[in-house]
Amino acid sequence: MIRLSLSALLALFALPAMLLVLSAHAAPPPGDPVAGAAAFRKCASCHQVGPAARGGFGPQLNGIIGRRAAASTDYAYSAALRRSGIVWTDAALARFLRDPDAMVPGTKMRFWGIGDERQIANLLAYLRQYP
Ligand code: HEC
Repeated sequence: MIRLSLSALLALFALPAMLLVLSAHAAPPPGDPVAGAAAFRKCASCHQVGPAARGGFGPQLNGIIGRRAAASTDYAYSAALRRSGIVWTDAALARFLRDPDAMVPGTKMRFWGIGDERQIANLLAYLRQYP
């Protein structure tokens, strides 16, 4: 009896601990917003952030983390992005920035993509500063 409840207790503690380890691995590394500002130069020819940001060649990106795709009102999005149903979580953004056309075939965003996970994390940390 005692042995059974002990192993049950163990399982009770081990499972959340395992999940914690797993989710820690799944989460992107914390980014550096200053390095992200430099990385954003790649985006800035098409995208703006900040109080005066507006749609230009691409949509403004204020509050992009957590925003629905194609939600900026002053920008004419592609049908592909409008119909994508994406919500821009960290993970979704990371996937899009790695290869926009693979995630949203037919997107108007013509961008090679970023292979470097660290640079993506830095960019996300930078974008998070513009709610
Ligand atoms: C050559 C111009 C260009 C560059 C460079 C570019 N983008 Fe884009 N981006 C676009 C266009 C155009 C769209 C609209 C896509 C559509 O409607 O299919 C877009 C869409 C997006 C969206 C979706 C916005 C929304 O409201 O759903 C995100 C997020 C985004 N870009 C992030 C970035 C980031 C971050 C970078 C830099 C690493 C970047 N883009 C570089 C042109 C660009």
